[in-house]
Amino acid sequence: LPCDEDIRALVTPLASLEGPLLPMLHRLQEEYGFIPANAVTVLADILNLGRAEVHGVVSFYHDFRENPAGRHVLKICRAEACQSMGSEDLARDTLARLGIDWHDTTANGSVTVEPVYCLGMCACAPAAMLDDRVVARLDRARMDKLLDEAGA
Ligand code: FES
Repeated sequence: LPCDEDIRALVTPLASLEGPLLPMLHRLQEEYGFIPANAVTVLADILNLGRAEVHGVVSFYHDFRENPAGRHVLKICRAEACQSMGSEDLARDTLARLGIDWHDTTANGSVTVEPVYCLGMCACAPAAMLDDRVVARLDRARMDKLLDEAGA
């Protein structure tokens, strides 16, 4: 974990922005891949906010992770075109197979599953993304293959 001083050094340049909390959190996530638990105290101190307030913002925005992501990130599209092609069932089955919920990581640390809202592949729905790769026309068999590939 980064120490308080590292966190402070990273976010202090943003303190003069108007509404600095979100930019600070984005900066931390960019640097560490998640929001380290001790950052909540540091940010609360710098911004003169309550820790509960900072923590509330971190948990409200699902873009912010409170734990490091798995080795792979699977984003399943939940927007309309994909929904109409069965993405919700596919997502439910996938999460059940992995034994996790949205935003969680498998016990072996292989995969984190996130929702995404349109990948620009509506014509080939349902779509998902494994790390940087978009995968379209997904069905259960292709999803199984992806998960195997990711070591889930
Ligand atoms: Fe899923 Fe557009 S709605 S790719």
